Amino acid sequence: MNEKLAIDGGPKAKTTKTIPMYPGGMEIGDEERKEVLEVLDRKYLFRYYGPEDFPSKVRQLELDFADLIGTKHALAVNSCTSALISSLVAVGVGPGDEVLVPGYTFFASAASILGAKAIPIIVEVDDSLTIDPRDMEAKITDKTKAVIAVHMRGAPCDLDSIMAIAKKHGIKVIEDVAQACGGTYRMRNADCGMRIENPGEGTKDLNSELRNPKSQIRRLGGFGDINAFSLQYHKIITSGEGGIVTTNDPMLYDRAQAYHDTAACWRPDRYGLPRYEGEVFPGVNFRMSELTGAVALAQVRKLDGLLARMRANKKRIKDQISDLPGLTFRRLNDPEGDTAITLVMFMPDSSITARFSEALQAEGIGAECIFDKGIPDWHVYAHWKHIIEKVSATSEGCPYTCPFYGKEVEYSQDMCPNTLAYLSRSIQIDIPPQMTDDDCDMIAKGVRKVAGAML
Ligand SMILES: Cc1ncc(COP(=O)(O)O)c(C=O)c1O
Repeated sequence: MNEKLAIDGGPKAKTTKTIPMYPGGMEIGDEERKEVLEVLDRKYLFRYYGPEDFPSKVRQLELDFADLIGTKHALAVNSCTSALISSLVAVGVGPGDEVLVPGYTFFASAASILGAKAIPIIVEVDDSLTIDPRDMEAKITDKTKAVIAVHMRGAPCDLDSIMAIAKKHGIKVIEDVAQACGGTYRMRNADCGMRIENPGEGTKDLNSELRNPKSQIRRLGGFGDINAFSLQYHKIITSGEGGIVTTNDPMLYDRAQAYHDTAACWRPDRYGLPRYEGEVFPGVNFRMSELTGAVALAQVRKLDGLLARMRANKKRIKDQISDLPGLTFRRLNDPEGDTAITLVMFMPDSSITARFSEALQAEGIGAECIFDKGIPDWHVYAHWKHIIEKVSATSEGCPYTCPFYGKEVEYSQDMCPNTLAYLSRSIQIDIPPQMTDDDCDMIAKGVRKVAGAML
């Protein structure tokens, strides 16, 4: 006989406290303290100068991060939104351009396009809850300049297809790695616009494979033309706020650097003439402070440990619930590369999602419905009111009315029906690295209990 559900007055399956989902934030400790105190003790709070010579923490972060991701360049900025805007500006996105963005991502991915004065074009996600390559290709027009490929909820999007379509149509790829720092992707196909010298090679050890230039596996943020990471508090590693741009293209790096620093104030030859057209132009101030850099530097060293713990926890839960009839999981484009920050389960149909999620919560499990029409959530395009209604900061209505655009873009709450259909069947459970085996087993037990009674 089924055990009485907690929602109906039965005992809870999970009796331990829910651990907050701040993977790196919950690990802030002596390493971060040491780095920050060095900055304070030296009174060296600005990356480009201080009272005495001292190696910049922000610069060291950039070097370590480029090494981690395997790109030639990394540029530290003050948020992922800033990283996205700098990347869009770097690739030349501006008035009159369209940029593709999935309908399931945080609002910032779409808002950054408006920040670069271009028009967001909202694209369906598929059963991986990342951008649907078929809809992406269908929405390319002669105005399309770039796609923001979001590795949503920690899992890689279909980079093989995205890179191949972008190459075919001559558009730029910007990976949004805000939620998937440290994740990887193994290319299935060498002919996808990537520089893979000898596909098929590689060793079993992930780190040596990542170091092998001939291997077809990379860290996320090492595939697109230029890519954006977040260090905001909810992310895998954090400095409270912060972001990083990665690229292999020296020109895109120069342009992102110029834009993030007012007037390229701190490029190597401060007052020198531009070395080529497009190198220097007026920008904004997205610079990272040394205090932020110090925390981020210590966090980068913790990344692989955090990933290993989240992956072990997710596997432990999933192994215990994968036989349940009626319950499926979101498809992973590369299971090995998933950062495992969350487990997304699909209900057989949307009518049961809210009740199933409430039953899990009653069992003591921090489960959430991903989409509910009546509950605002900035991660689902149907709730991006300011974009759907084409609201802008000034009455001229830019960029929607921009004469360089010369078209009318239309948005509506139901413009991506597949996205809403997948999301309305989805329940997610966060997987903090700090969970114990007991926490994981109790979550699995609770899911089994609720599924046994309701599916
Ligand atoms: C997918 C995605 N992109 C961009 C951002 C924006 O990051 P930030 O807060 O660092 O600007 C976030 C933050 O939640 C995000 O989840």
